[in-house]
Amino acid sequence: MQLSTAPTVGRRRRGNPDSQGLLGVLSVCATLLQLCAGCPSECVCNSLEANCSGRSLVSVPALTSLPEGTHTLLLANNRLSSLPVSAFANLSTLETLDLSNNYLDNLPSRLFRELSNLSDLSLRNNSLTVLDRELFRGLTLLRRLDLSLNGLAAVPLGLLDELQGLTWLSLAGNRLHALERATFEPLVNLQHLELGMNPWECDCNLRDFKHWMEWLIYRGGYVDAVECTLPKDLRGRDIRGVPVEMFNYCLQLEDENGGGAGSTKGGSPPCFRGTAAPSSEGAVVRTEAELPDCVKQRYRPVSVRRAIGTVVIAGVVCGIVCIMMVAAAAYGCIYASLMAKYQRELKKRQPLMGDAEAEGDQEEKQISSVA
Ligand SMILES: *[C@@H]1O[C@H](CO)[C@@H](O)[C@H](O)[C@H]1NC(C)=O
Ligand SMILES: *[C@@H]1O[C@H](CO)[C@@H](O)[C@H](O)[C@H]1NC(C)=O
Ligand SMILES: *[C@@H]1O[C@H](CO)[C@@H](O)[C@H](O)[C@H]1NC(C)=O
Ligand SMILES: *[C@@H]1O[C@H](CO)[C@@H](O)[C@H](O)[C@H]1NC(C)=O
Repeated sequence: MQLSTAPTVGRRRRGNPDSQGLLGVLSVCATLLQLCAGCPSECVCNSLEANCSGRSLVSVPALTSLPEGTHTLLLANNRLSSLPVSAFANLSTLETLDLSNNYLDNLPSRLFRELSNLSDLSLRNNSLTVLDRELFRGLTLLRRLDLSLNGLAAVPLGLLDELQGLTWLSLAGNRLHALERATFEPLVNLQHLELGMNPWECDCNLRDFKHWMEWLIYRGGYVDAVECTLPKDLRGRDIRGVPVEMFNYCLQLEDENGGGAGSTKGGSPPCFRGTAAPSSEGAVVRTEAELPDCVKQRYRPVSVRRAIGTVVIAGVVCGIVCIMMVAAAAYGCIYASLMAKYQRELKKRQPLMGDAEAEGDQEEKQISSVA
């Protein structure tokens, strides 16, 4: 009995640690599985952050089963060149999405549609040349948007309409030469704007945007350097330091073109013709002293024309008034001399009837007959 029970007890005693260990391993595996079940093998998931950076990925890994509540997804430093429209579907908890340093050249317009909680989006250093104006629709909580180091040639009107929460925006290092004020007006909370390293053309197309930028700075915002590439007179100068008067000719151009200046190329910049011919690179940077003359040359013809117009109109009006006055004076003189003549003749004909009343009656009759 003792012999038979001892081994079973022994076995049981020996078996308990084994099964406990097995259970322990199983439970550790289960918890590990729970934690990393949804984490794609290409990524490292760590407390609601999925890091898939620097893995030479050419396509987005399956993200549908990311740990629930994941708020950060890092896909930087890969080789992504395109994304399917559903790449980020069902990731409404995402707050940070980093797609920087990839080769993305075109994004589906509905790509970010479900990321309603997104607050930080980086598309820095990709190959984007155009953006669909619907791309950022619904990202009302976005606070930070990095579009620097791409090939953007324009920011479409309407692109930023719903980004009222945006405080930080970079468009540095693109191919922008002009921006429209209306595109940026919805960004009422913007505090920081980067526009450097773009080939800005400081002509009439940029005038309204310059005004908007000055308003942004006035209400405490920051804008980095906006250096003009064209016209040559202004190359290398910061547009914020170019006086508003330099853009007055835009209004005059609008006047001359019947207000349709915006549809044409925005007009040539000040003194463009005068300085375009000598294109030696040494003469590119102009001294400040040259600029006012340059402006005056541009303004003179129009102001002279206006002055001449004023003089001509004033002359015509004066002439008409003068002619009317001369005519009135002549009429008065002729009338007075006629009256004098009649009175002299009356006195000659009736020298003895010098009664004042009779003379007055006579006079009245004469006047009425003359009239
Ligand atoms: C993400 O992973 C990459 C490579 O594995 C690493 O270099 C980087 O520091 C990680 N980033 C974060 C925020 O953990
Ligand atoms: C998103 O979730 C819904 C249900 O919640 C599911 O039917 C759909 O297939 C999911 N879409 C993707 C792309 O995972
Ligand atoms: C959005 O983010 C906030 C905190 O930043 C969080 O409380 C909320 O649950 C999130 N909403 C969704 C749908 O994930
Ligand atoms: C931009 O990305 C490429 C590869 O995608 C990388 O080689 C390069 O160093 C990045 N440039 C910057 C300025 O980050």
